[in-house]
Amino acid sequence: MTITEQLLLLAQKARNNAYAPYSNFAVGAAIYTPNGKFFCGCNVENASYPCGTCAEAGAIASMVAAGERQIAEILICADDNCLLPCGNCLQKIAEFAMPNTLIHSADTHKIVQTCQLANLLPQQFSLEKTSHDK
Ligand code: THU
Repeated sequence: MTITEQLLLLAQKARNNAYAPYSNFAVGAAIYTPNGKFFCGCNVENASYPCGTCAEAGAIASMVAAGERQIAEILICADDNCLLPCGNCLQKIAEFAMPNTLIHSADTHKIVQTCQLANLLPQQFSLEKTSHDK
């Protein structure tokens, strides 16, 4: 199985466990790291809506908890719409990615779009770009 096939399978499985009773919009995400490890997550909503977390956030938290800090590829899987990570998640992905990190968008069957992080977030917020600590 290719890396993208494994990412799709993992994201689909995570999506099946999504907790989205408020939006009814289930999302799954899967990460592949340069060390060859896979991590996944799903969206977890809350009665207090802003407390809900995106699928990408879950996958990133799982990766960091396992001691990994680099995203080589990430796949987001939703229903038949082509879902790209929200702005908040792009910033979260950027923390652990490179400008050429691949972001795959998949429906429940296949990848429908692949782009690089730099295409979606050309200029991320970074402390290096501020006067912080200078
Ligand atoms: N959602 C994600 O999990 N990832 C995104 O990139 C966009 C949105 C979730 C949040 C919420 O649970 C549902 O999709 C509807 O917005």
